[in-house]
Amino acid sequence: MHSHILHAVDDGSRTLAEAVAMARAAADQGVSVMVATPHGHSSVSAWAGYSTLKVQDRLDELRAALRAARIALEVVAGTEIFGELESLERLRVGQLLPYGESRAVLVEFPLGVVRLAAEHVVFAFQLAGYRVVIAHPERYRYVQDDPNSLIPLVERGALMQLTSDALLGNQGERLRRLSETMLTHGMVQIIATDAHGPHYNRLPNLGQAHARAAQLVGADIADLLTRRIPAAVLSDGPIAPAAPQKVRRWPGLH
Ligand SMILES: [Fe+2]
Repeated sequence: MHSHILHAVDDGSRTLAEAVAMARAAADQGVSVMVATPHGHSSVSAWAGYSTLKVQDRLDELRAALRAARIALEVVAGTEIFGELESLERLRVGQLLPYGESRAVLVEFPLGVVRLAAEHVVFAFQLAGYRVVIAHPERYRYVQDDPNSLIPLVERGALMQLTSDALLGNQGERLRRLSETMLTHGMVQIIATDAHGPHYNRLPNLGQAHARAAQLVGADIADLLTRRIPAAVLSDGPIAPAAPQKVRRWPGLH
């Protein structure tokens, strides 16, 4: 539900060969469907290459390469949308892509976003009829200061997408601790890789994340977060996640 597999669009894979290697790694991890979500925001120069036409072109190339290499991975178009009201307008006129054919969107914020600003944008997307998936909530400072600040968004149907590398400890002990706390308190609805490719050593590792989640919350919930909710998002199907539980004592990460 979150990957930078398409080559030479943003800071993800650089060549078609790297994209194919990422696809192979994902298939080896047990993934059958992957959404390509390049950054849809032009103010950062590394992301300036985004256009829906380019996404479609790269996707066509990748699909042909996967057929030729006999890699059984379906790749769906998407975008990692920058969390600002202007993005809503760009989405409306077709300059940004939702998740596949759905009315769901992947939204990211700057790491220092303040809580009310993030909520304002999420609610605006929801009012416009979109289901909102929030990219890497564990990275936002206000969430690190107080994980309970996610509860109002979760209660209003926003889906929190935890990054597999954070859960697996590849981004440090502090993010692992926050990820585990969020997971065991019902504040995670999707686990995704945010894979960027071999040059960042950020390869698909969803199978490992699924195994770790199963240890923490059981195989059924691990399955829910890596298969059933993602499938429901792509098909606009019903989702009824468990109610989040308040974290009692949180020392903070800073
Ligand atoms: Fe990303």
